[in-house]
Amino acid sequence: MWTKNNIPDQSGKTIIVTGANAGIGYETALTLYEAGANVILACRTQDKADETLNQIKKHTGKGSLETGILDLSSLVSVKQFAENFLQTHQQLDVLINNAGVMIPPASKTTEGWELQFGVNFIGHFALTGLLYPLIKSTPDSRIVTVSSMAYVYGKIDFDNLKSEKDYDPMREYGQSKLADIYLSLELQRRIEAVEDVVLSIAAQPGANKTELARHMNEEAYNAAVERIGGLMDPWQGALPSLYAAVSPEVKGGELYGPHEEGGYKGYPAQAILLPHALDEEVAKKLWNFAEVVTGVSFPA
Ligand SMILES: NC(=O)c1ccc[n+]([C@@H]2O[C@H](COP(=O)([O-])OP(=O)(O)OC[C@H]3O[C@@H](n4cnc5c(N)ncnc54)[C@H](OP(=O)(O)O)[C@@H]3O)[C@@H](O)[C@H]2O)c1
Repeated sequence: MWTKNNIPDQSGKTIIVTGANAGIGYETALTLYEAGANVILACRTQDKADETLNQIKKHTGKGSLETGILDLSSLVSVKQFAENFLQTHQQLDVLINNAGVMIPPASKTTEGWELQFGVNFIGHFALTGLLYPLIKSTPDSRIVTVSSMAYVYGKIDFDNLKSEKDYDPMREYGQSKLADIYLSLELQRRIEAVEDVVLSIAAQPGANKTELARHMNEEAYNAAVERIGGLMDPWQGALPSLYAAVSPEVKGGELYGPHEEGGYKGYPAQAILLPHALDEEVAKKLWNFAEVVTGVSFPA
């Protein structure tokens, strides 16, 4: 059983966690701080980032903390965050693409993407690409992208990425989380093709008590919890991201998540990816599309 007690000393490492102010991102940032890393809390507002920093500082940690403003629903904000970071840092050991939104009322990003596709995938795609040169120049670096078991029912509908058709919140969530798997796996293939030494790893946290379900109605929420047989606490949901970020056992191009009850509970282990997630043709198509619409190309 892999727990946070297995985390090696992270002193000297610089790690960005997106969505660090809540749920799984908060627990991920806190644990890495405790383990000695310099953790950058990337949050939507300075107030949220400052509050998180003060909260984490109440714990005993060997690390240090910084804050950054990152709104993944705006490519201007993503570019600003990356630019600030690159101007002020000489290394990036781990980027943890954790932030996410699930089944919001129909809404769009600044650039017009359906919100879940835009925040969960497009924003993280651009962020990863903009930071990639620094990640690549940092020895033993990693990119962890947080997906979900919702990828199982995901399908990329290239004709509906701006909600051109009807809006089905769960369908679009599944699409965005499958896109995160494609981002992670296709990136690893591209890294290997150019012989860079970076690991791109996907994680999924299982089913946890966080704010993610804030847009679910009570009846649907209770039914889902009953079906799953209860939820884990966010510290446990953070373990797959932490495992992917620090364990010497993990491999690039793989998915790690809780190993019990269909991936919804338990401690981190390598997960079996369903065939549609391994479809290299769709992954390539999505990648090329994302490069065009964000104007960000990598690895290079
Ligand atoms: N909880 C689960 O059981 C579960 C299951 C499967 C996958 N996941 C995945 O785990 C990740 C973390 O989710 P969570 O459960 O910790 O949810 P959460 O408690 O709702 O936290 C989500 C985080 O993402 C941030 N975020 C949302 N929209 C953003 C944007 N436009 N720009 C930047 N940050 C944004 C939120 O910031 P604000 O506070 O400002 O909104 C918050 O910090 C997500 O990728 C989610 O899909 C969670």
